Amino acid sequence: MSLTWFKKGTIYQIYPRSFNDSNGDGIGDIRGIIDKLDYIASLHVDIIWLSPIFNSPNDDNGYDISNYYSIMPEFGSMQDFDELLEQTHKRGMKLILDLVANHCSDEHMWFEEAKKSKDNSYRDYFHWSKPAKNGGPPNNWKSFFGGSAWELCEITGEYYLHLFTKKQPDLNWENHSVREEIYDAMRFWLDKGIDGFRMDVIPLISKRPGYPDAPDVGFRKIIEDVYANGPNLHAYLKEMNEKVITNYDAFSLAEGVGINEKNVGLYVNKDRKELDMLYHFDILEFTIVNGKFEEITSFDLIQMKRIFKKWRDAVGNQGWIANAMGNHDFARMVSRFGNVEKYYQESAKMLITMLCTQNGTLNIYQGDEIGMTNIVLETIDEVRDVQSLNFYEENKKTKRYSEELALQLINNEGRDNARTPIQWNDEINGGFSIQTPWIKTNPNYKTINVKKQDDDPNSILNFYRTLLKTRKNHDVFVYGEFEELEFDNPKVYVYKKRLGSDIILVMLNFNTINEAIKLDDNVDTLEILINNYPDIEIKNRTTCILKPYQGVIFKKYIIE
Ligand code: GLC
Ligand code: CA
Repeated sequence: MSLTWFKKGTIYQIYPRSFNDSNGDGIGDIRGIIDKLDYIASLHVDIIWLSPIFNSPNDDNGYDISNYYSIMPEFGSMQDFDELLEQTHKRGMKLILDLVANHCSDEHMWFEEAKKSKDNSYRDYFHWSKPAKNGGPPNNWKSFFGGSAWELCEITGEYYLHLFTKKQPDLNWENHSVREEIYDAMRFWLDKGIDGFRMDVIPLISKRPGYPDAPDVGFRKIIEDVYANGPNLHAYLKEMNEKVITNYDAFSLAEGVGINEKNVGLYVNKDRKELDMLYHFDILEFTIVNGKFEEITSFDLIQMKRIFKKWRDAVGNQGWIANAMGNHDFARMVSRFGNVEKYYQESAKMLITMLCTQNGTLNIYQGDEIGMTNIVLETIDEVRDVQSLNFYEENKKTKRYSEELALQLINNEGRDNARTPIQWNDEINGGFSIQTPWIKTNPNYKTINVKKQDDDPNSILNFYRTLLKTRKNHDVFVYGEFEELEFDNPKVYVYKKRLGSDIILVMLNFNTINEAIKLDDNVDTLEILINNYPDIEIKNRTTCILKPYQGVIFKKYIIE
């Protein structure tokens, strides 16, 4: 297995709109990020992933790009970007950008041209289809954000495909020119010196010919079988890798939508020369059965262990994945997986201890390092995210849920939870902006904020710092061979990892009461590396008593 910088690195994702506003317009920007680079470096992260910063009408906050070569004016200028890149590198960190290549904005010149007429030279940049016999959409495909995935173009009388909002028409990758356009844009940024790309919904770029109807099997399965993993996908990924990525010291992190343990190898195994790594959805969508705002299941630790194991086994020594428990598309990690009522700090620290010791690249999301929590939006007017808004509108028609329940579901699962402004201090708007921010600030900024945690050696923030620094110095965290202990125990997650002569023992208590774990090691050979409590109780030198949500990493010494 090759040990490269991007495998060992910790990725810190920034959602620029919500990170830090430098000019008081209520919107985060690039200067705001530059001002916080020392803070980011202080976390001991290695790679910054910026969510899209390109020109966009912001129907989906930048995931609808209208010009791949320019910076969104709200975020700053190209000069600001160049400075950000330089300053990031100066601090020994890398920078990757978000490549949104499955679709662009309907305000991109390509689409503005394409919709004009059937023989426009850009027509074939998109997917068009004649109406069905009844004049409706050509097939039953649903958009990820509700409603049909097809929209009628009044001018030409044909429908175009949009797997996301109707302002995000899907690009036609069959068209060689489309691919070359995207590769050129990638080269433009790589030539500037960026270190790679996070690839937005990249498994969706190859569409099934003839656009066959999706079977009635639940949205998750439809994604896997109908939208993702299309017939030419691997050819495109190989081409993109060969023509672009491999020519730079850069890497690709794919959003693994629709990827499962059976086909992951096709994407990330080294000899395939396609992608360097991906993050899957099994943990991110844990408890979400088929899609947001639908059925959910309760938390089940054994199930979570199985998922981690399944992916570990699936990639083996051949491939690589990144591990995440949250990002800009999901509710806050501590609110979902932790216990914010009673063991807020403990659970926030324990969760990252778990994630940090899973094989793979660690991927953390802005604000999780201070344990930011979900927000309560009081009325639909406070909701900003297009996915939630579309759901709310659609629900008004279908009347599946009451309006109160719909808002409740949005509060539980909606993406705005992750998009509230970063809470820098206890001043107005949490120090994010002097102006009312574009999205509501979580009122708990008075108690949960960077400033306060910076000063507190026992804070979540300082725990992250210690943990990530320790990870940097211990390859075993990242690459170690896993040995599960207590696998069938639904309350604790216990494992050993070894790499050469380095061994760690990780113990995590997911319960709200003490849990006893028998040690098969000589206690004298164990040294505490990480502990989210001030101490650990060991009884009779043979049994650890873990307190609620206690998480401990021991280093084990082999005494000859
Ligand atoms: C990805 C992004 C999400 C976006 C969607 C469409 O899932 O993470 O934020 O809305 O793709 O680009
Ligand atoms: Ca601003």
